[in-house]
This record gives sequence, structure tokens and C-alpha cells, in this order.
Amino acid sequence: MPTPSRSVLVIHGPNLNLLGEREPDLYGHTTLAELDQRLRALGAQLGLAVDCAQANGEGAIVDLVHRVRGRHAALVINPAGYTHTSVAVHDALRSLDVPVVEVHLSNLYAREAMRHTSITGAAAQGVIMGLGPASYELALRHLATILTAESESTSDV
Ligand code: DQA
Repeated sequence: MPTPSRSVLVIHGPNLNLLGEREPDLYGHTTLAELDQRLRALGAQLGLAVDCAQANGEGAIVDLVHRVRGRHAALVINPAGYTHTSVAVHDALRSLDVPVVEVHLSNLYAREAMRHTSITGAAAQGVIMGLGPASYELALRHLATILTAESESTSDV
């Protein structure tokens, strides 16, 4: 059973509730429910408790980011359209003292110029993009590794 120190929140931003139906040529046919199920299953293999949440509003995303404080050991976030616009989400991410990985299903650099800048990514430890659902999976694998390293270094003291 994973401990709270291995609890990871995954936040999906606006329009990702339509995953599987929305622009499948860009975002694929996997639905959000299927993606979340895959992430929870991978989390179980990695010893992580994975919670998933989705919201369409900017304020709702900020509130979800605040929920990480004191409850989760790390955050994976796909801010979707807010990636390119939101100082508020950037600031919320900067308020966290746990590792944050930003993910995108599509390769932002291969798309329109308006998607080439990530305001939120500057507040993340790293950004993984363009690999479809594997972007999220690689983020979880990275977080599992660093949370293990963190717990080993704390147990040394
Ligand atoms: C996205 C890319 C964003 O530019 C877009 O607004 C999305 C999804 C992705 O996962 O590829 O909604 O974040």
C-alpha cells in the first residue's frame, strides 16, 4: 500500500474531458477514463497512489493545484490551453514545494506558433510532450524514481 509520501496527483486541464472524441488525429482515441485507469495501474506497479482530476476553469485548476499542498508528494499536470496563457496557474505551481512535471499529449513545437510558449512549464521541474499517453507515463516513472531517492536520503538521517 503506497504511503502519502508516494501519493501523486494528476491534473488534466480544459477540454481533456473530451479526450478520445476531440481531434483524435492530434490527441488519439484513448478516453480520459481509460488514460486515468492506465495511470492508476502504472502507479500501483511503481508503488505510487495516483489520484486524477480534471477541470475546465482556470480558477478550478488553481484550486486543484492548491490541493496538492500537504496531501500529495508530487504533481503531474497537463494545463492544456492554459499552458500558453495562465500566469495564475504558473503562480500556483510555484507555490508548491513538491516536484511538478508538465505533460502534453501532442508536440507543442510541431503545432501553431501560439502553442510554442509554455507559461506554466517554466514553473515545472520538467516538461514531457508529444508522446501521447506515454508523456504521462514517463512523468510517473520519473516521479517514482525521485520519490524513492528522496525517501532513501531521509531514512539515512
Ligand atoms: C495539450 C496541448 C495544448 O496546446 C492544447 O490546448 C490542449 C492539449 C496537449 O496535451 O497536447 O488542450 O496540452
